[in-house]
This record gives sequence, C-alpha cells and structure tokens, in this order.
Amino acid sequence: MLFGRRKLKTKRPTPAPPAPPPGEAEPPTVTITPSSDGAPVTTPPPIAAEPARPLPPPFMAGDTLPAAEVGADLTVDCTAVTHNWRTLASRAAPADCAAVVKADAYGCGLEPITSTLAAAGCSTFFVAQLAEARRARAAAPAAVIYVLNGIAPGSAQYFAEIDARPVIGNLGELTEWDAFRTVHSWRGGAALHFDTGMNRLGLPMEEAASLAGRVRSMPNHGISLVMSHFACADEPKHPLNQKQIRDFQEIRVMFRGVAASLANSAGIFLDSSAHFDLVRPGIALYGANPTVANVNPMRPVVELRGRLLQARIIPEGATVGYGATWTAKRVSRIAIVAVGYADGFSRPIGSSDARRGGEAVVHGKRCPIIGRVSMDLLAIDITELTKDVHRGEWVTLLGEGIGVDEMAGWARTINYDVLTRLGHRFHRVWKR
Ligand SMILES: Cc1ncc(COP(=O)(O)O)c(C=O)c1O
Repeated sequence: MLFGRRKLKTKRPTPAPPAPPPGEAEPPTVTITPSSDGAPVTTPPPIAAEPARPLPPPFMAGDTLPAAEVGADLTVDCTAVTHNWRTLASRAAPADCAAVVKADAYGCGLEPITSTLAAAGCSTFFVAQLAEARRARAAAPAAVIYVLNGIAPGSAQYFAEIDARPVIGNLGELTEWDAFRTVHSWRGGAALHFDTGMNRLGLPMEEAASLAGRVRSMPNHGISLVMSHFACADEPKHPLNQKQIRDFQEIRVMFRGVAASLANSAGIFLDSSAHFDLVRPGIALYGANPTVANVNPMRPVVELRGRLLQARIIPEGATVGYGATWTAKRVSRIAIVAVGYADGFSRPIGSSDARRGGEAVVHGKRCPIIGRVSMDLLAIDITELTKDVHRGEWVTLLGEGIGVDEMAGWARTINYDVLTRLGHRFHRVWKR
C-alpha cells in the first residue's frame, strides 16, 4: 500500500530518438549561435534519462518526491508507533487510549498513522481542525473523531458531513451546536471541554453544574465526552496537576454517565487518578520521552537522513558558512549536506567558535555540525572519520541514537517543535 501526501504528476523523460534505419539520412542536429563570438555550436542529441530504480525493500515508498532526486529522506516507523500506542494503552488501562493526530500526526503523516493505529485497535482520534478531521475520516472510516479547536462560526454542518465531533469550549459554540442539531435533527456526538487551569480553551468550572443540568434535561443531548487538559503534566510535582485532577473529578460526578478524559502523554505517567475513562496521547506516540526524569519508554519513530553533496578539505583558520562563525582549528575535512532550516532543521543546531551545536552520524560516528545552518544546506566536520565519504551518500540527522528530545535540546526548543516542523521536501517512507 502506498501513502501519498500529495500526488505529483511527473512527466516521463523524453526518450532519445530511435536510430534511423541503415541508408536513411541522420535526423538534423540543432545549432545555436552564441552571442559572444558568433561561432556556431552544435548541440548533441538529447540523452535519455535512466529509468527510475525500484526502491529497496522492506520500506514502503511515499509517492511524494522521488528518492533519487531529494536532499533528504524521512522514514516513519509505523510499527514503532503501534508499539508506543500499545505501551501507553496498557499503562492507562482500564481507561481507553485514543491518539492525537493533529498537525499531520506531529509531522509523521496523518493518513498512515491514523490507519495504522485504527488497524491496531485505536477507535478514537483527536485533531485540531476540520480539514484534518476529513483526512482522518478517510483513513479511519469507523473511528470517533474529535476536533479540539471546536466549531468555527457557521461550520456545524461540516462536522455532520463527516460525522466529526466538535470539542465545545465556550457557550457560543454550544448554542450554535444545539441549534444545528435541533434544526437538522443531527444526532452526532460532541465533547464539552472544561478549563481546569490552563486558561486557554474551555468552559469555566463555574458553568459546569448548570450545563450538567441542561444536558441531563435534553434526552438526545449527544454529549459523548467531557474533557479538560493538563497545563503541567510534564512536571509531575507541579501543584497544578493535583488541583486539575480534583476539579475534573467534580466535573465527572456532575456528568455521571458521560465518558471523561484529562490525560495527555505526560499525564499517563502521573498516577492512575489522572487517567479517567480515556487518555489522549500525542507526542509519546511519535517516540518523544513523556517522562522528564526517566529513560524514554517509547520507541524512536522518525529517522531523517540528508544527502551528502560534497566533501572538501579546508586549511586551518578557514571559516565555514554565513557569518564566518566557525573557524577550523586544524586542517579539516568537511561535508556539506542538503538539509537546511527550510526543511525544519533549526538554525540553533548550528555552531560557532563560541558555542557547540548539534551532531550528525556519518559512517556510524557522531560528527559535529559546524557554522550556521543555511536554508538548504548544513556543514559537518568529518575530520575524525577514517574512511572516505562519497557524494550522494546519506548522513543521519535523526536516528542512530539521535532522538527528537536530544535534537530539541540542540535547537533550544521542545520535541513537539522538532517534529511538527519537519519539512515537505523529503522523500517520505512509512515502514510497516
Ligand atoms: C487538548 C489536547 N489533548 C491532548 C494533546 C496531546 O498532548 P501530548 O502531545 O502532550 O500527548 C494535546 C496536544 O497539544 C491537546 O492540545
């Protein structure tokens, strides 16, 4: 099965004209006259492009950009995502385990991740926007799909079209949804989101009792979930966690009979009082560490490899890249790789004479990234390598021990940012 993010119509290369039968005239060659010296130049006949080579097993090829021409390839290990989901589900049991697949499944590909997890038994998915819900619906026709950002004014009908459930976070949305359901006799579900401390989206706690009464008085209210969201679950000792759990326990009592959900990935690693009926992991599915102090219990999911464009020797004292921020302390061998900040490879991962940056793996050895990361390129110091490197070979930027958490540290950001920024110029492969 192939998963395409965008189908590109590729023109087949024009084949070279067939050789004329013996005795017939050669086809005419094209001549051009350059303006510099006026001497006519004969162009050779076009050369037929090599036919595309089959991709190596056991990977499945995404049909985004052909492997042969890209500067980087991104492999998403769907079996690791399934393993991670099962690990989280067994930790949260008897609560159900959903999957958060917003932002293109955190950069890992919404369709392949959704269909993989649906096949593994995940029946509830969360996205942020309706457009994502449409994609999730196509990938998981029987799943329950919640849209976290709720109903934009006038958009209720679009939820009904794909049987997606809005996560309602204010009274205006609730009024609009109720009106739509009444006028169109729509019986589809929705979630009520209560704010227990994040102060982002969500109905105020003070409204919970009256809303619970209103819901109970409506025979077909369609409220299938009450939920809230942790602000500090990644800091297990933060006092807000216990306060949010207590407040949400009150809500659950008021909405007896309706499923309740509070925990994200890190929330699953708090104690079981955080689990309620349904947990909503995102980042941990994609291999990032949901626990601060412990060894990462998740399997790595993403591997990013950049193509080596050229290697060069530079003398001691030469500088590398824009701003000349990195200076060779010895005669150095450097490799230039076809990945830059336009591919989501953050500029802070670069380095200068004053500051170490990130690393890449070449021939199994970690080598420092040197100078500034530019839009489409980065440089690596490969002086320590004993073997030659070759144009076209791959350098590992994520994978072979470099995880999203380590890269986030180099980039001075968070693992979510590393994953969701992953660019769109890669050849993508989903490994099953
Ligand atoms: C409401 C809500 N629930 C769950 C999640 C998943 O969180 P995480 O990726 O930390 O597991 C998110 C992510 O931002 C969210 O906004």
